[in-house]
Order: sequence, then C-alpha cells, then structure tokens
Amino acid sequence: MSPSPDKVKSCCAAVYDSELARALLGDSFHPGGLTLTRRLGELLQLHPGMLVLDAASGKGDSALFLAQQFGCDVVGVDLGPINIAEAVRKAENAGLTGRVRFLQGDVEAVALPSDSFDCVICECAFCTFPDKTAAAGEFARVLRRGGRIGISDLTRNGPLLSELEGLLAWIACIADALPAREYTAFLEAASFRGVQIENHDDVLLAMARDVQARLMGLELMTGLKKMDIPGADFAQARSLARAALQAIQQGSLGYIIITAEI
Ligand SMILES: C[S@@+](CC[C@H](N)C(=O)[O-])C[C@H]1O[C@@H](n2cnc3c(N)ncnc32)[C@H](O)[C@@H]1O
Repeated sequence: MSPSPDKVKSCCAAVYDSELARALLGDSFHPGGLTLTRRLGELLQLHPGMLVLDAASGKGDSALFLAQQFGCDVVGVDLGPINIAEAVRKAENAGLTGRVRFLQGDVEAVALPSDSFDCVICECAFCTFPDKTAAAGEFARVLRRGGRIGISDLTRNGPLLSELEGLLAWIACIADALPAREYTAFLEAASFRGVQIENHDDVLLAMARDVQARLMGLELMTGLKKMDIPGADFAQARSLARAALQAIQQGSLGYIIITAEI
C-alpha cells in the first residue's frame, strides 16, 4: 500500500534535510549533478533577464549554478526548512541575494503569482509529489505564455522489486517513478505541448554505484565510532541501494530530461 501523501511529503523533506542525505548524496541531490543541471539550462536556452522557478530546490546548488552560468534570476522553493536556510546562506556567500531567492513552501500549491516565470525546472522531485496533477498545474499557472519547463527525473518500466516499494523508496524517488509517457501525460493534461525527452540512464547508474560506495564507507565509520548519524538504518538503506542498482542494470529504472512549453 502507498504511504499517505502527508507522510511522503513530511518524510521526504525531513530526509533531504538530514545528515544522512548530505553524507550519501553530497551537494547535489540528483543524478548527474551540476553537469546535468547545465544540460537542462542549455535545453531551456536560459539567458540573462529570464526568471526561473526551481521547484523543490533542495540545498540551492542548482539555482545558484544556473544564475552564475546563464545569468538568469532564480526563485527556489522547497519544503525543507534546513535546506532553505542553507540555500539562503549560500546565496549570501556567493553575493547573489539580489538574483537568487529561496522560499519555504509546497510546490503543489505554491504562493507565487500567475504568469510570472519564463522557465520552471524541477530536478529529481516530480516523481515524489503525491499530487502530480496539482504540481503540473501550478507549473503551468506560474509560467508566462511561451514559457518552458525542464524536468529531470527517474523513470520506471514494469514492476519493481518489493524493496523498491516502501516509504524509503518513495523518498528516494523510486516508488512512484513513472514511465516517460506518464510524465508526458501529466504535462499535456496541464496544457504543456511539444514534449521532448532525452535519455540519461548512465548518470543514474553512476549515482547508484557512488551511493553504494558511500554507504559502505559511512557504515564503516559509524561502526568504528568515528562518525554518528542519528536514526540511520543502514541495513534498510543497503538493501534499497542493492535493489536499485539491480533495477537500473536490468533497465527497469532509468533517468530522463523532459522539456515542454506552455
Ligand atoms: C531528491 S531532492 C532534489 C533536490 C534538488 N532539486 C536537487 O536536485 O538537488 C527532492 C527535494 O524535493 C523536496 N520536496 C519534496 N516534495 C516537495 C513539495 N511538495 N514541495 C516542495 N519541495 C518538495 C524535498 O524537500 C527535497 O529537497
């Protein structure tokens, strides 16, 4: 049975705010890191003068990177208060507070004006939203006519192992990952058109291998009492990482960039 929407949201924000997420994923909470963020920026043809919404902006690295690389202004929205506070600090340190802002909020019902953004990006988060229709509708609402969306996300093809169905898997963006055609359907139902899809399975495989290696290192460090990560369930995380790697190698999990316009 799927966990309740509220449980998914609160756990997702708490996990991505946690020490464990930082230790396992580093600064960028999505496969492909800032290299894939750059690709997203290129596909959306970001340039100075544009206003971009980073929906589910995590620790803010993509928002700051896009502002620095493409000269656009960015608003990042995320549910996690710790991530938002860290993102604000980073913007201050980078001297970018005039061009990059961060707000705590739920992108399924975002407190931002209609027709106000040129682009929306959403990296490795759309598949975790319990109400994808509401999220796609909000993205369409805040975009100006002719505005563009770029989503990078996990895809699933066919049934997954039971280890990949629980709450942790949901939070790790796996349990409710969809086939590419279903993401397309959500966007088209929200009036997006011209959907284009680019395959990036390779970055997902690299990330899964990296997470597995970091997990082993963390378990070793905590076992030797050189590190303490409160609440970490290493056995569950190990089993999830193993099952995810297997699913990627078998082609039942993948990663794509989807772009479209309104
Ligand atoms: C896998 S992380 C991706 C973060 C960021 N996009 C990145 O690539 O580094 C998922 C993020 O989605 C956020 N999130 C999940 N549901 C959300 C919602 N309904 N509204 C806003 N943020 C949400 C979580 O707090 C978390 O930071």
